[in-house]
Amino acid sequence: MGKILPGIFVAFENPKGGVGKSTLTALFAGYIHATAKETGLTVGVVDIDDAQNTIGKMRLFEATQQESLDEEYQVMNISSSEFIENMDFLKENFDIILVDFPGNLKQAGVVETLMMIDVLIIPFEPSKIEIMHTINFFDYYKANIMAKREELGYKTTVRGLPNRVVPNLIEYKDLVANQNEFPIKLMEQHIKESRVQFQRNLSTLISNYNHVCDEFGDEMVQLITEHIKA
Ligand SMILES: Nc1ncnc2c1ncn2[C@@H]1O[C@H](COP(=O)(O)OP(=O)(O)OP(=O)(O)O)[C@@H](O)[C@H]1O
Ligand SMILES: [Mg+2]
Repeated sequence: MGKILPGIFVAFENPKGGVGKSTLTALFAGYIHATAKETGLTVGVVDIDDAQNTIGKMRLFEATQQESLDEEYQVMNISSSEFIENMDFLKENFDIILVDFPGNLKQAGVVETLMMIDVLIIPFEPSKIEIMHTINFFDYYKANIMAKREELGYKTTVRGLPNRVVPNLIEYKDLVANQNEFPIKLMEQHIKESRVQFQRNLSTLISNYNHVCDEFGDEMVQLITEHIKA
């Protein structure tokens, strides 16, 4: 299959630990791969989380349970300190490159890698304290990374994504009602809290992909397409 896009770097990043970065990475990679017959899009997942290596380990474990990986998307462990030197290879081989970040900005090369992300989705749990941390990260990102990208002539698309949403909670209702004043533009979709779907059934294998968040995947592809067009 030929390449369609110029190799777009996409990440779910919020340096707070446990906000759903790896979960959303696997979910969106599964969506792209599951719809590849219609869209022709290829995805490569890069795990730069040297310490936890969540996606890398998940794939390694799953690979022992199935005979062949021929039909699966590629998962690559690349240390954040070596990310930049691998960018040309990644761009040449995939339409969408999904980068799974560690839960901190201190690991060598993480900030430099963040600088290379074209479409940044900031997942967060809609609770008071997480919202505060998330806005702090966004302020840092805007002043130190987005501004530099702009200087270099790179376009950036940024959205917030509420994860682990319990729709009836007042914090979530407030967030949605007042989203015009929220500093980060939100995606239209959100991800519900569901232990069954996102903890028990998460997988990097296409045979296990259960289409639980296809609308979210749709909106992601739309954002990426608009990013390229504009
Ligand atoms: N929508 C959800 N519903 C239920 N559980 C979720 C949801 N999203 C994430 N989780 C769970 O929260 C935990 C943390 O998620 P995940 O590992 O994806 O976060 P992370 O941001 O990658 O963490 P780290 O910063 O440690 O890399 C996992 O147990 C995951 O299954
Ligand atoms: Mg993770």
